Amino acid sequence: MASENILEEIAAEIAQCTKCPLSQSRKNTVPGEGPTDSEIMFIGEGPGFYENEQGLPFVGPAGKFLDELLNNAGLKREQVYITNVLKCRPPGNRDPQEEELNACRDYLERQIMAIKPKVIVTLGRHSMARYFKDVKISMMHGQATWIKGQLVVPMYHPAAGLHQPSLKAVIRKDFEMLPAYIQKARKANRSYDPFSEQQGTLNDHKDPTQLSFF
Ligand code: URA
Repeated sequence: MASENILEEIAAEIAQCTKCPLSQSRKNTVPGEGPTDSEIMFIGEGPGFYENEQGLPFVGPAGKFLDELLNNAGLKREQVYITNVLKCRPPGNRDPQEEELNACRDYLERQIMAIKPKVIVTLGRHSMARYFKDVKISMMHGQATWIKGQLVVPMYHPAAGLHQPSLKAVIRKDFEMLPAYIQKARKANRSYDPFSEQQGTLNDHKDPTQLSFF
């Protein structure tokens, strides 16, 4: 099936989803948006007030800042795929709960399988946790790691920059590295392998059999 159809099918399933209690309080589901063959995918945490109203990701104040960051990195929103670990709004924008993350996990996995982006940017600690356990975002932000054939770059959530102005410059700097990461990933020409256990640092791309492991 074409990836466009797969993503439509996933969005239709999400629209009907009742796997966790967030389905009772949501106004709209927010599956994600962007080109189905996008080279880069951004994974946020969960819809906020505006996203719940419109059914679209990152359309509130954090989204405005994300647009600015993309722009500074020479990327247009229409070029990138944007989604969240949770597809429904947690009431009052509280942190995602384990039960909710587990209920949504398969949707995100299938979206990644359909799009097969070369670069994945996690926004905030809850989406970073999909790839890195028990690490602090302050230690990892802006660093790229090869995971399952994709370059994964944890970043601070744009909302963190709005709440903590001192982080704004840090987030801007991290986003400025994205064009170089995209170039690296293009050159490395790896493909997504969901079953691979290999992880490697950015420059391990030359010989995939020589990956360094954590
Ligand atoms: N914050 C997120 O993590 N995702 C959105 O879509 C909006 C705000």
